[in-house]
Amino acid sequence: MNPIKVGLLGIGTVGSGTFNVLKRNQEEIRRRAGRGIEIAVVADLNTERARELTGGTVDVVSDANDVVTRPDIDIVIELIGGYGIARELVLKAIENGKHVVTANKALLAVHGNEIFEAARKKGVIVAFEAAVAGGIPIIKALREGLTANRIQWIAGIINGTTNFILSEMRDKGLDFDTVLKEAQQLGYAEADPTFDIEGIDAAHKVTLMSAIAFGMPVQFDRAHVEGITKLSAIDIKYAEELGYRIKLLGITRRREEGVELRVHPTLVPASRLIANVEGAMNAVLVQGDAVGATLYYGKGAGAEPTASAVIADLVDVTRLHTADPNHRVPHLAFQPDELSNVPVLPIEEVTSSYYLRMRVSDETGVLAEITRILAEGGISIDAMLQKESREGEPQTDIIILTHLTREKQINAAIRSIEALQTVLSPVTRLRMEELN
Ligand code: HSE
Repeated sequence: MNPIKVGLLGIGTVGSGTFNVLKRNQEEIRRRAGRGIEIAVVADLNTERARELTGGTVDVVSDANDVVTRPDIDIVIELIGGYGIARELVLKAIENGKHVVTANKALLAVHGNEIFEAARKKGVIVAFEAAVAGGIPIIKALREGLTANRIQWIAGIINGTTNFILSEMRDKGLDFDTVLKEAQQLGYAEADPTFDIEGIDAAHKVTLMSAIAFGMPVQFDRAHVEGITKLSAIDIKYAEELGYRIKLLGITRRREEGVELRVHPTLVPASRLIANVEGAMNAVLVQGDAVGATLYYGKGAGAEPTASAVIADLVDVTRLHTADPNHRVPHLAFQPDELSNVPVLPIEEVTSSYYLRMRVSDETGVLAEITRILAEGGISIDAMLQKESREGEPQTDIIILTHLTREKQINAAIRSIEALQTVLSPVTRLRMEELN
């Protein structure tokens, strides 16, 4: 059988990784897919570089529109990124009856509902394994491997840049700004790292996992997103003294009243495997009612790890190309007419445990006042740490860990604590997850 023909939009890091792995492993891939997979055309603004990278073996064009409309192309790989031109090209490819493979989490988290609907109407596939956690086959696991389960929650380290920064802050006791500069010099962080450090990239990814896990439309605009820019080295240190590590987690959890969808720095017990995921690695922990906890670990970025996911999608699409669309795995795991409009809960309705740090005057009754406020708010204390005050400085840090409580209850308690004369600083509040 003739090879299936692919058009590649964008030959940057992941694009060239895809080209190289496909070439290197072509024979094994052909044996798996049932036919060859051939990149026939590459679109990139830098045509000279594209020619160099492909060694003159494929057509190179500067206008991606020429690829998405080309009659001999069956699959378009979109590796341009962003929401603008990428959205137009993906929709145009679909309109022209092409299957689409994309690594673009931002596009799907924001415009996924529109894109999946367009693909459904046209009977084509939009595959996006590479959009979440790079080389880790988490979409496959959630959509197919865990299909028997009622998924209860997912918690993931799904941004390598921030995990690298947090690891360095903990290892070296450095503050955020210093480590960010180091990460940029090493090429771990982008020149404009906003999407990573503000948690937006992780929120895109957890939004996609949430839709697949719970059978609901993608709802990025309802996600609660906090990054790591305000995290202090002192909290990483105190967390460690209490037996916890701080990780930027993407969390989604099923509750009676709706679904939690949030990204924020989170204290995790140091004994959990996921707490020991260091550097730029990714990991996703999934709790299903039948299987229990399963953990997926690997590289969340980089040329060949991401290419591994892109090519897995190419093979899937190649195998299913001629199948009746009704026999394919639905984009969001659930049949499109079975998606439910379960609400995403506002952050004030989320349930979590909390880490509270405050600077207080070291005088009689301060602790009693603080614990009274917590008790009156129905908040139970799990652990406490008080530092000895330094000589001549009658003030100290108090750190309190709470049991599970509603976020609005802890916020109300914090307002009352901050109003005490003896509390000298705003209360630092971090969420804490036991993940058991
Ligand atoms: N910038 C992401 C990260 C990789 O640092 O993990 C691409 O999503």
